[in-house]
Amino acid sequence: MAADWSTIEALPRTPLLQLFAEDPDRLKTFSLDVAGIHFDWSKTHLTRDAVAAFAELARAQGLAAKRDALFGGEVVNVTEGRAVEHTAERGEGNPESVARSRGFHDRMRALIDAIEAEALGPVRSILHVGIGGSALGPDLLVDALGRESDRYDVAIVSNVDGVALEEAFKRFDPATTLLVVASKTFTTTETMLNATSVLQWMTEHGVEDPYGRVIALTASPDKAVEWGVDETRVLPFSESVGGRYSLWSSIGFPAALALGWDQFEELLEGAAEMDRHFRLSALHENAPALAAFADLYYTQVCGAETRAPFAYDERLRLLPSYLQQLEMESNGKGVTIDGQPVGRPTAAITWGGVGTDAQHAVFQLLHQGTHLVPVEFIASIEPGDTLAEEHHRQLLLNAFAQGAALMKGKQADDPARSYSGDRPSSTLLLDTVDARTLGALIAFYEQRVFVNGVLLGINSFDQFGVELGKEMAKAAEKGGGDFDPSTTDLIARAGLD
Ligand code: F6P
Repeated sequence: MAADWSTIEALPRTPLLQLFAEDPDRLKTFSLDVAGIHFDWSKTHLTRDAVAAFAELARAQGLAAKRDALFGGEVVNVTEGRAVEHTAERGEGNPESVARSRGFHDRMRALIDAIEAEALGPVRSILHVGIGGSALGPDLLVDALGRESDRYDVAIVSNVDGVALEEAFKRFDPATTLLVVASKTFTTTETMLNATSVLQWMTEHGVEDPYGRVIALTASPDKAVEWGVDETRVLPFSESVGGRYSLWSSIGFPAALALGWDQFEELLEGAAEMDRHFRLSALHENAPALAAFADLYYTQVCGAETRAPFAYDERLRLLPSYLQQLEMESNGKGVTIDGQPVGRPTAAITWGGVGTDAQHAVFQLLHQGTHLVPVEFIASIEPGDTLAEEHHRQLLLNAFAQGAALMKGKQADDPARSYSGDRPSSTLLLDTVDARTLGALIAFYEQRVFVNGVLLGINSFDQFGVELGKEMAKAAEKGGGDFDPSTTDLIARAGLD
């Protein structure tokens, strides 16, 4: 059956308060508990009819078969001719791929044991260089879960701007620093330049064998060896693990080292639990599917151009930027999997921030601006701090009150003081922020992206959009490039010609 969007596009937008008034079971119907996370979509405009219409569209788009193909290790990234096997990293996939991932994880664990036994000499700090998916995931994990750990100091440096690297140099002693070079392709110019500069810093500070302190995380092990990393310190992962889906692979090495192996395994197990939920649950009680249906309702029916996750938890402050890559690099596409124009909006622009800070900065627009922005609150019942209870109480109550205010609004005689209300939000309430729950949370977002992509008929797993800019920067680097007058002038003004 061909995908038919007409039923979706004709879905009504019944005011949220009316939806609650008309259906005493609304909260129950639109909330779920999975893997230590309570999901509440009751303050979105999803209705039973809308879910049924999206489930029908999912059937027409072959979601179940495509989900099986994903987990079965079939070639679902057709433009690059690859399987997509990040789920195998957490034990959910075809047995051969799972076994291969286990082998890679065993290798990673053995190296971690060796480092802990000081086989590479004393190590106090980890300087991880990588960019995009080779940085955002490890950074999120270490920032969220590593606060209590005093095992190692970790710096994740991505930007080619030397300021970023120099900040790490100020913090670290070169004699006790491990350089971790994370790059799936082992060709990314920013990462290779940063890695070279770290080696130079080590040499300048008297480290005798800087290459002896390098670990490579890559799907191109030959390139890492060619670059000078000893084969025993190359931690490979499969080509079929995409960059923005790679934190479960050896790209998660700094987190596994800084948090300890048990924590890394907990992370994988949390993700596997979400995978099983996604694979086995009917669509009307399937967390990634319901979230994707809400995403598509707002982009396709209501014309929402953005969505905004707000982490009401300092430990998850890097989550919005992690989600930006995951969602925008995956589904920011203009053509279908068959190469035809999609003919409808694809991914919303993901932005967001941290609560309560964001309330005093950007929430004005959310409450009274002219844009429709579906908001997502992510919070944890268990606090991350040990201060007076009042801190966490205020944090959570603020998150919940914002959702209520967006929905309820307030009428006043003065239009400037009126709030229209009927503004949607969803809430993800975690029992706690630990490795297992974070694994489940990230896997939830991955599968949500997948469902969005399948329903839109696009390939979520390539990223050709980033190539042109890279090519032109390389051409300029070589003194070439056929640039327009504005760009030529900028290059000249900066003395780069
Ligand atoms: O330029 C985009 C991208 O290819 C991302 O998809 C990827 O996560 C990042 O660059 C880093 O790539 P690599 O791991 O190969 O250095």
